[in-house]
Amino acid sequence: MSNTMWGGRFASEPAAVMAEINASIDFDRRLYRQDVAASKAHAQMLAKQGIISAEDADQIGHGLDAVLAEIEGGTFEFSRALEDIHMNVESRLKALIGSAAGRLHTARSRNDQVATDFRLYVRDAIDEIESQLVGYQRALAETALAHAGTIMPGFTHLQTAQPVTFGHHLLAYVEMAARDRGRFADARKRLNECPLGSAALAGTSFPIDRAMTARALRFDRPTANSLDAVSDRDFVLETLSAAAIASMHLSRFAEEIVIWTSPLVGFLKLSDAFTTGSSIMPQKRNPDAAELVRAKSGRVIGALGALLIVMKGLPLAYQKDMQEDKEGAMDALSALSLSLAAMTGMVRDMTPDTAKMHAAAGQGFSTATDLADWLVRVLKMPFRDAHHVTGRIVQVADKAGLDLAALPLDALQAVEPRITEAVYQVLSVENSVGSRKSLGGTAPGNVEAQAKLWLDRLGSGRP
Ligand code: ARG
Repeated sequence: MSNTMWGGRFASEPAAVMAEINASIDFDRRLYRQDVAASKAHAQMLAKQGIISAEDADQIGHGLDAVLAEIEGGTFEFSRALEDIHMNVESRLKALIGSAAGRLHTARSRNDQVATDFRLYVRDAIDEIESQLVGYQRALAETALAHAGTIMPGFTHLQTAQPVTFGHHLLAYVEMAARDRGRFADARKRLNECPLGSAALAGTSFPIDRAMTARALRFDRPTANSLDAVSDRDFVLETLSAAAIASMHLSRFAEEIVIWTSPLVGFLKLSDAFTTGSSIMPQKRNPDAAELVRAKSGRVIGALGALLIVMKGLPLAYQKDMQEDKEGAMDALSALSLSLAAMTGMVRDMTPDTAKMHAAAGQGFSTATDLADWLVRVLKMPFRDAHHVTGRIVQVADKAGLDLAALPLDALQAVEPRITEAVYQVLSVENSVGSRKSLGGTAPGNVEAQAKLWLDRLGSGRP
């Protein structure tokens, strides 16, 4: 038997492999809630416009509720022969309510239907990710507040650069997450137009009310061009771009967690809740969750690339290629959501070894810049000369195997006779971070104020 939905002109069934490559139900079943909601809105609109009867619309509405309940109750039988979620739902509706079901597809097509369903799905995913990003920011800001004065080394080139505070480092990720939220919010704004009623590609001859369905589905307005509405997937691409950047940020932090929990570094400990053991090496405590967050960014970034490639050669309007928009995007958005949950969990779980961090902050001549700044401030040297003198002092310290602060005054004076005892005040890591009070700098006072500002903003729900 040929397909009951479109089989009128077909005499026989598709080849098995045709059915297999064509069916999307295995992944687009995740659109069931959106599909039912959009169909209910469509049916009500058709009735209000006098295109179908109020009784038919009523039956359709109740029937769709029953379909939804079956799907959520796990009793719905999805059929690959019915290709996708749209035809699975409609076919079951017909089995439940009979001929009225056949009127639901008036003045619409699967093309505007899938575009509407997927916009709703992506919008829900954005809302979920937004609230997870807020939770992640809150965990970071709370930890930052607790560690506003915890000193650790800051790095460039992964070489010890200057002392910073752990809180400052964490707040860097709060800022990134804030921009991530901005990108998702921006994508959501442009996404929030309703394609329903664009029909196959050209609109419809029925007197539909597109503003009504748009409103019912909480879109800001209907889309303006039917060809664009059924064939644009840039709402997915924008969301995936935001997701790719967000997961790149998570991956960078995950990489730091991997480095910092390594016994070679030992800045952080994760508890049993966020580590796994080895089946052969009993001493191991592996940061698998961080490694997997780092790895999952591959899927998310990959999904963006894959969909750009799918879309770039497509003439208007709908092409079946576009069915390939869903699997990667759904997978990517789930992966990001899971990564956010894992990162938030790890932030709340992590215990910094503050003594180790402090000791490491003083290594590698990390206060050399403070020494150079002292030469500029007190001896009025040009910074370039001060940099050179400091370089020579570092060389002396390195040879002697001593930190800058441990170098005797006569050794300093051998390089620059005008240096006095007072220089030692700036060579401590405490002084170093404490002095960096410039806007956006790492001084504990700055960090505390910044963390409080964020917690205040996050608490009030302001972006
Ligand atoms: N499953 C299809 C998709 O996801 C629905 C739209 C099918 N439209 C069509 N004309 N065959 O793209």
